[in-house]
Parts: sequence; structure tokens; C-alpha cells
Amino acid sequence: MPHSNNGPAKKSSIAAKPRRVLIFDTTLRDGEQSPGCSMNLAEKLEVAQALAALGVDIIEGGFPIASVGDFEAVREIAKAVRGPVICGLARCNDADIDRAWEALEHAAHPRIHVFLATSAIHREFKLRMDKGEIVRRAVAGVRRAVSYCKNVEFSPEDAARTEPDFLCEVVEAAIDAGATTVNIPDTVGYATPTHMHNVIRTLRQRVPNIDKAVISIHCHNDLGLAVANSLAAVEAGAGQIECTINGIGERAGNCSLEEVVMAMRVRGDYYGCDTGIVASRLVPTSRLVSNITGMQVQRNKAIVGRNAFAHEAGIHQDGMLKERRTYEIMRPEDVGFARTDLVMGKHSGRAALADRARALGFDLSPEQLQMVFEQFKALADKKKEIYDSDIVSLITHQKTGEGGWRLVSYKMNCGTGRTPSVHLELAHDGEHVTVELDNAGDGPVDAVFWAIEKATGISATCNEFRVHSVSVGKDAQGEVNVQLLCDGQLYRGRAVSTDSLEASARAFLDAINRIWATRRLTPAAQPVGAAHP
Ligand code: KIV
Ligand code: ZN
Repeated sequence: MPHSNNGPAKKSSIAAKPRRVLIFDTTLRDGEQSPGCSMNLAEKLEVAQALAALGVDIIEGGFPIASVGDFEAVREIAKAVRGPVICGLARCNDADIDRAWEALEHAAHPRIHVFLATSAIHREFKLRMDKGEIVRRAVAGVRRAVSYCKNVEFSPEDAARTEPDFLCEVVEAAIDAGATTVNIPDTVGYATPTHMHNVIRTLRQRVPNIDKAVISIHCHNDLGLAVANSLAAVEAGAGQIECTINGIGERAGNCSLEEVVMAMRVRGDYYGCDTGIVASRLVPTSRLVSNITGMQVQRNKAIVGRNAFAHEAGIHQDGMLKERRTYEIMRPEDVGFARTDLVMGKHSGRAALADRARALGFDLSPEQLQMVFEQFKALADKKKEIYDSDIVSLITHQKTGEGGWRLVSYKMNCGTGRTPSVHLELAHDGEHVTVELDNAGDGPVDAVFWAIEKATGISATCNEFRVHSVSVGKDAQGEVNVQLLCDGQLYRGRAVSTDSLEASARAFLDAINRIWATRRLTPAAQPVGAAHP
């Protein structure tokens, strides 16, 4: 019988042991579902390792039947990542559940997560099933999952809009069938905190076998209430929170892991709960996910935004100098912000770099350190001062995406009132391809993108193009993020360089390489022809 983490929140500051709330991270499944956030296998593995180091209890690695990529990701994470429970999602049907188990079978601690919608609107319009059929399928799904593994989670999708009586009936049946966790999703972000509190309280009061399972909460952020709703559920006794790094996810996203965790930690006096999260890894993990997905974290985002601990007003600065706690409820270093920003220059050595990388949350292998050190030296020749953000960017840009095409060189001739000419050289599979274009595009970036399309034979629509400086000063590195639309799918690319046109070319190539890798996996998808004449 599973240990239930459910229980009432304690609202006193008496030193009782805090109730442990489980953190179920779904960055790699629900988070990855947000448009343009897809990650390749190496990136998913890296995020999964970072989540394990962060101390999450459960990692949802993907939805194995959804694609070969999802299947492989769950399978590789299950083999490689030790510590957390590894979970795979499945609908309540045999094929999904069998495939999920195939992906999970090597995990030290596997969990199958089955779901089926229960709200009237989903029953009537999406599933065309009556209540009896929903209960039968939910029970059959849970039973099949239990036949593979004892750790089974059941989610009545759109639970927050499901009639309370029916929700109680389905939850009771799922637990009877063997579900060890029952997750209550607010699939469309419709709930409010009081509503969510009532849903959990109702389940705890009316489902007779509720203590045989952990109650979990899964909130979407359509009304900006995902964190508040998750906390309300915890207050009502939920024992697991489903969340994502930086709150990424479908539409407006999911409950943000860093916010919900720090709310419980800073306000432990009120909630009487805590988690196993290593808070000092929050910022590095947030940066990693942001770099990999290209989803920038807004500057004023709670906990991990760049301004989260910046004090601008004179009165605040004065108060801070006298006593930090006047205007700070947690210390930046508690959540992983490095204490100083200006760090190194061209005379700094390898050991100092390794030290700084460790302080920033990266344990580099000797090979990684060597590569980063070489790039660090090259960068230090170009700019006098190297900032933490430069180092983070060097480390995270070591990940080379999917391989494929590489920029060898480019030459651009352009100026006011002239259409650019470009000479571009790329390498691919040991071969070099050169393209010359005269009067190309409406500016140098357009011209270089056009030349890359011509050289690679892959064309795409550029949906988004963002440049920002990684650190400060005129010599700062420029980071470019692009999002391309190709074969009906979004692909992102990013690159960094002190030459922002070179960064643009490499970011575009990074996205082109992802398209190329996808086409290799699904050969049916054919090039759609050049976007430019
Ligand atoms: O939002 C949702 O309902 C989900 C379920 C699959 C848990 O993501
Ligand atoms: Zn969801």
C-alpha cells in the first residue's frame, strides 16, 4: 500500500516536522508540448540529469506513444537517470500503456501515468462516451498499467470542470483498481484557489479509499493562477504538485516549479510543508531550460528573473544596506544567484574557470572543461571582462544540437541603400559547400539566411528572430534565437558570438540542423521548396 503524503497544512510556527510534498516535474512532457519548445534527445537527457540534481521526486520524461522521439527520450532517461521516479504518460488504452512500459522497463523506479477526460464537455464532444464507459475505461487502463508496474498514477483530465459527484466516483474506482497517485488536473486553467481547495477537500471527505493514494495537483496557468491554485490544493491536503521549470507548458504554461517550491519554503510557517528541492540549483536549472528551449525568462519573473533581487528605489537600497531583511524575504544565493557578477579576464586559469562554473551550478567533465576553456580564452582575447552570463553561455552553447551543417565562413558586402551580397561557406559530412549571392535579401540577416537555405536545400519561414546581449558593454556577446516554421512544425535555433551577424547565421543553421535531423527520422517529410525566389 502506498504511503499517502496527503494531509492538512499546519498553520502554526510550532516546530513540527514539515509535511513532505512531492515534486513531480513535467518540463519534459507538458513543458515540451508548448510551441517551439521541443528538445532533442541529448537536451532532454541533460535536463533530466539537472532535474535529478535539483532533487525532484518524479520526472515525467514524455508521452512514449506520441512519437519515436518521445519514446526514446523516456527510455534513455529511464536507463540513465537514477534517483527520481521516472514516469511516462499514456491514455487509457492498451497500445499506449504497453508502449509506455516498453519505454520505462529499465527504470530503477518506474511509474505509468494514465489519463482519461472526465468533464461533461470532454465526454460529450471529444470522447463521445457516457459516464459508465469512462469509469470502465479508467479502471481497465489502471489495471493494465498495474500489471506492469505497481507505481501507477491516474489523471481524470479536466477534473476541475468535472461534476464533483462523478469525480469522486472515478477517483474511487481508479484507486480500487490500483492507482497509487490520483492527479487532479485543471487542464484549461479554469479554477481559482478557493475552487481548487474545495475540490481537494471534497475528495478527501467523500472518497472512502482516498488515503490509499497520494493526491496530486496539476494546474495550468490560463488565468495566471496555477501557482496559487496548487498552493490552495496543498493547503487542502494534496501531497504532490505537478509543475515545470520556468512554468513552461501548453498555452500560458503550467505551475512554475521554482515559485511553488519557494512559496512553501519561505512560508513554511504557514503551509507546514516542504519539498526535497535543492533551492540553490533553481537558477542554474532555470537558465539551462531557458537556453535549451529558447524560451526566455521574463526579467521580473519571481525567484529566477534577472530583476528578482534588484533593488532600484533609493529607500529600498538604504534599507537593504542597513538590514537586508527590510526588503528581501529570501537571499539571492539561496535560489542559486551567484553573489558577484564580474569575474574573470584573459589571465584567469583553468582551475578558476572550473571553480566559477561549479559556483554557477555546472560540474564540467575534464573534456567539457577543456572545450569551454579554449572558447573562454578565445573570448577573452576579444573582450576584456568576462561575466558569469558569458560563462553560462559558453557552457550551454557547447551542446551542438543535432550535428549536420556547420558554418565555415561568411563575407558580406552591404551598406545604406545597397542590397547585400554574400559569400557563404558551409561544411557538411566532410564536404564544403559555397554559395555566392548578389543583391540578396532586404538586409544582411535576410541575405545570410537566404544563402543558408540555398546551400542546404532546406527552406523555412522565420517566425521569430531575437537578439540580445549576454552581458554588458559594447563588446558584449550577442545571443540570437530564431524560430523557424517548416513542414508545419516549429524549430528553434540559437547561437552566440561577439559578431551578431555570425550568431544570426549560426542560430539559423542550428534550426536548419534540427529540421534536417527530423527529416532523417521521418523520411516521408520532403523539402517544401525555397521560401525565396
Ligand atoms: O493538463 C492535463 O490535463 C494533463 C494531463 C495529461 C495530466 O496534462
Ligand atoms: Zn497539463
